[in-house]
Formats: sequence, structure tokens, C-alpha cells
Amino acid sequence: MQLSQTTRELLEHHQQSHLVQYWEELSDTEQAGLLKQISEIDFDLITKLMDQRDTDHSADNAFSRAQRATSPEQLIRLPQSDDDQQLREQAAQLGEELLKSGKIGAILVAGGQGSRLGFDDPKGMFPIGPVTDRTLFKVLCEQLLARSRRAQRVIPYFIMTSEATHALTVNYFKQNDFFGLGENNVFFFQQASLPAIEVNSHKILLTAKHRIATSPDGHGGILSALHKQGMLKVMLERGIDHLYYHQVDNPTAIVCDPELIGLHASSCSQMTTKVVAKTSPEEKMGVLVTLDGQTQIIEYSDLPGEAARRKDEHGNDVFWAGNTAVHVFERSFLESLQGNLALPFHIAHKPITHLGKDGELIEADPARPNGNKFEQFIFDALPFAASALVVEGDRDREFNPVKNADGNDSPTTSRAALNRIAREWIEAVGGKVNECVNIEISPLYAIDLQEFAQKCPGNLIVNEDRCF
Ligand code: UD1
Repeated sequence: MQLSQTTRELLEHHQQSHLVQYWEELSDTEQAGLLKQISEIDFDLITKLMDQRDTDHSADNAFSRAQRATSPEQLIRLPQSDDDQQLREQAAQLGEELLKSGKIGAILVAGGQGSRLGFDDPKGMFPIGPVTDRTLFKVLCEQLLARSRRAQRVIPYFIMTSEATHALTVNYFKQNDFFGLGENNVFFFQQASLPAIEVNSHKILLTAKHRIATSPDGHGGILSALHKQGMLKVMLERGIDHLYYHQVDNPTAIVCDPELIGLHASSCSQMTTKVVAKTSPEEKMGVLVTLDGQTQIIEYSDLPGEAARRKDEHGNDVFWAGNTAVHVFERSFLESLQGNLALPFHIAHKPITHLGKDGELIEADPARPNGNKFEQFIFDALPFAASALVVEGDRDREFNPVKNADGNDSPTTSRAALNRIAREWIEAVGGKVNECVNIEISPLYAIDLQEFAQKCPGNLIVNEDRCF
């Protein structure tokens, strides 16, 4: 196929002609694939991002933002008194009612590439159940199904995928009969990708002679993806007012947590965030702060060592409130942000496998990041919210993510947490569990301790691995 003059000129104009330098060597299919990728590039955006990178003052900005920030103010801490407890119980009741009224939907972001974990399939397919090897997707879907059965209402699930995870994720759900949620109640929508740029030039990188290096545009890309793929319309048609949002990496997030939904609704918040106390100032969690009079999140990469350790006048850590990345959004708030490119782009330096000058493949070298990736973060929507609430949760119960291959936040720690929670529930109802056994509780058996207490015999003794 002949390369059109228009494409040639477009690439010349943006100084990206190298993208077609191997054109003559490509097969028809490869040429068509490359053309499609080129047609999807927003060159004006790339130029803007390059200007941003080259005039980068983010280190100064990050420093001054961290200096001005204080601990979050619009905050409900863990209950300390009977009154606090009562507030939470009333909120949970309100949340249950909203679930029963069908006004709740759930959003799962599962477009990330999970490179830190070193797992090639989408992260949701990672086996995590301590006894059955249930995958992250299965644990989360079963939680949603159990919640929906209790409410006797469907809770539609909106699952964001990316180019890298879409086909595999959709197939996996099909093979598993949508985990009982019903095909009509699970909506997949794919976020956009952006090309990766060489660190010391403006050149878009190639990963093969016919392939441009791209990466997902960050979970902030959800705003335009929801809009472009008609998801906001579906939400409206389904009568959804509030959306519970969570990440694929945490099997102990309480999916559609009635208490959180109730606190969000009763505070008339547009965007609510669940936080837990960080284990140390260095822990890799974004932090909730009040900054320039607004609730905001400062990402850990923007909070260098010394700044992260700042104390307030009482000697307490300023940056204690770790972002669990569980939120509740008003649908109307998401609508008001439709395709909002006002969210800033964060620039990451990453090692990227690419073609060298002579067309040779150069493997990514973790010691030498050679490319820039660009991502928007959903939590940068916080300053747009007229009211934003922060709610503290129980870290041991609710935050046990799978991020790294080993060490902290790994499959080992997450599996151990599922095991521990199951053990605690058995012991709370008077049972006993042998030290060395593994326990797993399917969310379809019980989604909380109250339900477990109704179903499990009180004097149970567990001497071997068991799944309820
Ligand atoms: C994230 C938060 C951090 C928070 C921590 C809690 C960001 C930038 N930071 O860190 O503030 O304390 O979780 O666990 O999110 N994803 C997409 N598309 C993308 C990129 C990511 O769907 O383009 C999804 C991933 O599939 C995953 C989630 O977003 O479900 C988190 O992404 P990740 O990049 O792993 O964030 P963390 O560094 O763990």
C-alpha cells in the first residue's frame, strides 16, 4: 500500500517521520495496523505534553504544594465514641436503603499493566484465595453479587480495561459466565492509550517496525472513556446516582460498602475517599490533604522523603491519611467533568523496549529509563468537587493490596490477610482454628461478620484447610 501524502505531511509537520521509516518493509496487515495507530494519536496533545516536560517545574511545584498542605479537614475518623459508632450505623442503614433502591453502581479500574507484579495476564486474573486460588476478579465479583443479592437489586458493574487488558478480561468474564452477575449488568469500556516519547527528544518510540510504543492514559482517562463509550448514559438510564469506585488490586476492599455510601450521601459529598493510616511516612501511598482550602491528594511520587516526614504543631504526622483508592462519586459530578482534559498529566520516566537507530530491538533496562509515559489520575478531580469527604477505614480489614511480586503489598501479604480475616470471623463466633491451616470465606457465603455469625455454628473447630 502507498502511504498517503496527507499522512506523510502530518508526520513531517510534527517531526515524527521516523514512525514510517520501515514502511516499505511491512506487510499489508502491518501497514494497516501502523496507520491505525498513527490515526489515533492526538499530535497537538503530544506537543503540549512535550512543552510541559521541557519546562518542567514539577519538582518546585511538588515542594511548595507539600509545604502548604495540612492534614485533611473534611474528615470522619475511625469511631472513638458511642456517638461516632452510631453515626456509622445510621450511615450503613442509609447505604443499604440506597442499594435497595437501585441507585448504586460500581466502577472497577482494571486497565493497569501490573508491571511491578510481573504477571503477564490482567492483574484481575491473579489467583489470591488462600485455599481455592480464587482470582482477584472472582473475589470482587462475588462480593458484588452477594451485595446485590442482599439488596435484592442489580448493581451494574462498569469495568475499565485498556488496550493491553481488554480482550483477555472480556474473555475471562465470558468463560466464567460473568461470575453470576449477568452479562447485561457488566459493562466493559476501554480507556485510551498514549504514545511513549524518548526521554531526551520529542520522538515517539517504536517497539517494532510496525508498532508504536503506547501505554494506558492513567485511570484519570476514565472521564473521557466513560463519556465517549456511552457509560454515563447507561448509568442515567439505569437510575444510578452514586458510584462506588475501586481498584482491581485489593481483594479486601468492601465492595459497595453501605457505610461509606451512606456517609457520602448524608454529607452531600460529590467525591468521597476512603483512607487508612499509613504504616510509615515512606509508604508508597498517595496522601489526603487540605491544600489551598480544598481536599486534594498528593501522590507519593510527589512527596519526597523529608517532606513526607513533616509533623504538625502537636507532633503528629501531617501526611498520615493514605489513599486506598476507594471512592464514591456522584454520577452528576462525573457528568460535569465529561472528557475533562483539565486534569493534569503526570509524566513518568520508564524503561521501554524500543527500536534503536538501526532498527535493532533494545530491551527495556530498569536501570536506564529511556521513555516518558503520560498519565492522568482520577483523584486530580478532587479540586473540582464542591464538597469532598474523607473517611477513615480499618486498615487491617480493608486494605491488603497486591502490588509487588514479593515483600510488602504482595500476593503473600494479601493472601495472609484473607486468611487472617476468615480466622478472626470464626473466632469471633466462638470457633477455633488450628494454627497451620488456611481458611477462605467466599463472599457468597458471607460478606460480613454478621452474616457469617448467622450461618456458622458457634463451636466449630477447624483442623484442616477449609473454604466456606
Ligand atoms: C495507587 C494510587 C495511590 C494509592 C494506591 C493505593 C495512583 C496514581 N496512585 O497507587 O495514591 O495510595 O493506589 O493502593 O493511582 N489503572 C488503570 N489504568 C491506568 C493505570 C492504572 O485502570 O492507566 C488501575 C490499575 O489497574 C489499578 C489501579 O489503577 O487497579 C492502580 O494503579 P497503580 O498504577 O498500580 O497505582 P499505585 O501505584 O498502586
